[in-house]
Amino acid sequence: MNKILVNGGGGYLGSVLVPKLLAQGYSVRVLDTFYFGNFLPFDAENLEIIKGDIRNEKTIVESLTGIDKVINLACLSNDPSSDIDPELTRDINYTANKNVIRIAHEIGVKRFIYASSSSVYGLKSEENVTEDLPVEPISLYSELKARVENYLLSIKDDNFTATAVRSATICGYSPRMRLDLLVNILTVSALANGRITIDGGDQVRANIHIGDISNFYMMLLDAEHSLIHNEAFNISDSNSTVIDMANKVQSLIKCKIEFSEKMDPRSYKLNDDKARRVLNFKNCYSIEKAILDIKRSFFEGRIRIDDVNCYNIKKLLLLSLPFLKTY
Ligand SMILES: NC(=O)c1ccc[n+]([C@@H]2O[C@H](COP(=O)([O-])OP(=O)(O)OC[C@H]3O[C@@H](n4cnc5c(N)ncnc54)[C@H](O)[C@@H]3O)[C@@H](O)[C@H]2O)c1
Repeated sequence: MNKILVNGGGGYLGSVLVPKLLAQGYSVRVLDTFYFGNFLPFDAENLEIIKGDIRNEKTIVESLTGIDKVINLACLSNDPSSDIDPELTRDINYTANKNVIRIAHEIGVKRFIYASSSSVYGLKSEENVTEDLPVEPISLYSELKARVENYLLSIKDDNFTATAVRSATICGYSPRMRLDLLVNILTVSALANGRITIDGGDQVRANIHIGDISNFYMMLLDAEHSLIHNEAFNISDSNSTVIDMANKVQSLIKCKIEFSEKMDPRSYKLNDDKARRVLNFKNCYSIEKAILDIKRSFFEGRIRIDDVNCYNIKKLLLLSLPFLKTY
């Protein structure tokens, strides 16, 4: 079985994906700064954890030693966090991510799967946003995602499988919970306050259950090289307006819906037919299930709305810029 390095594996997605990889029999190494804590199983037999920074080249080389395949999730992972300090964001999300790819390629890693984002498309009026449409990022976060993708997918080497995942917004429960993602925020505010406030409401957004996106990353680890090399894949569950999403939450949790001024104009209908056609990807979960999973975890005390680790921007500001700039 291959040995997998998951950079940023201590985050929201990684904390669900890594246990799944271990359960499938993979040997896993995680490299993470653990800005939001470490919720990985600490006693798992085939899990090696490196607390370190992808900006440090020595750490990159050490973490890549003996590795067959890389899943790279590490970055400042949303627009507000990326806007804290553009230089810091370029260092992590662009320079360090590119270095990890370059060194992985140089030392003979076989496969590199990069966590891009559907936000690279920006605002699109097309009915179907497919992978062949030009990327038009409207934030620093998505601009750097697009640039790293472009670097990775331009490596033409049949001994190195290079793939980018343009994921929809993820939702559902993770031991490292994020309460700054659309469905998660709506659900938890309905539970905690009996009220949802939505920003505008007519923006179309694509979401995906965390169980489905982690399954997709696992599929890519084993997919045939010729099907996924130098390819980007959109991946989602469904596209709906923010107001439809709020109505879905309201149908499962009693709450009021209130409106505020539209602050975040991103809007696109993500088409993921390619992942379904090429890889036969099928969703096993649903957005309703994500809402219900969060509801159960909330009532079981596994989600605390006052836990600063659940909010990327708040936690990074608390850690402070000088701390974040040091590695
Ligand atoms: N969550 C979503 O809705 C979503 C949607 C599309 C794409 N993505 C992408 O998927 C990936 C995972 O997202 P997530 O929600 O798990 O984010 P997350 O913020 O929970 O996880 C990112 C992890 O990277 C680590 N990290 C940050 N800087 C680092 C550095 N310099 N060196 C080492 N580790 C570092 C953090 O400590 C954190 O554990 C990210 O690349 C994100 O951009 C996420």
